[in-house]
Amino acid sequence: MALIAPSILSADFANLERDIHDMEKNGADWVHVDVMDGLFVPNISIGIPVVAAIRPVTGLPLDVHLMIHRPIRYVEQFAKAGADWLCIHLEADTPENIRLTLEKIRALGCKAALALKPGTPAEAAKPYLHLCDMVLVMTVEPGFGGQKFMADMMPKLRALRTMLDAENPQCLLEVDGGVDAGTQVICKENGAAVLVAGSAYFKSQNKPGFVKLIQA
Ligand code: DX5
Ligand code: ZN
Repeated sequence: MALIAPSILSADFANLERDIHDMEKNGADWVHVDVMDGLFVPNISIGIPVVAAIRPVTGLPLDVHLMIHRPIRYVEQFAKAGADWLCIHLEADTPENIRLTLEKIRALGCKAALALKPGTPAEAAKPYLHLCDMVLVMTVEPGFGGQKFMADMMPKLRALRTMLDAENPQCLLEVDGGVDAGTQVICKENGAAVLVAGSAYFKSQNKPGFVKLIQA
């Protein structure tokens, strides 16, 4: 059993409202919003005005994935724009600022999530686990949709689930990158409770079926 958060990175940006309404009709659980600054990752996507624009068109939780350098500068604006979940990257600032940012996200009334790039080991998240409502394991290098799933991240996913069971059992595990009808199986087997899917969701010829498959 898992939740599915389709990523609007693969949506038709000229028809975002239509595509988000379709997500709702197809039974999706959350809307995943990929924010890229061209600095933390080598790509630029969307930001605060788009979160504010989609907030009134859906009742689904907005799962905002901040692939930006020093996110502490912007979390308040994303919270005010209507984010429910704010996910920052462990690699995006100093350890002290990462801690402060997670605390700030919670103080703003949002759920706090911490993302790990593929090269970042599970142990690096240990000092922050008590401050997290979710940990995101990237299964591609962040920056682009449509990349190949890194199955070698599964031991890290399992290790994080074990660490969380000891330290913060309510904390969710999310997987992002290359999730499709095939790769979703091992994500769930290794403890993922929320699966992001961009290209596989939007390319699917049977979206309600794809959503049910992830949720099963
Ligand atoms: C990648 C983003 C992902 C992306 C996933 O940097 O964080 O959320 O949209 O796309 P797919 O599912 O196509 O790998
Ligand atoms: Zn993402």
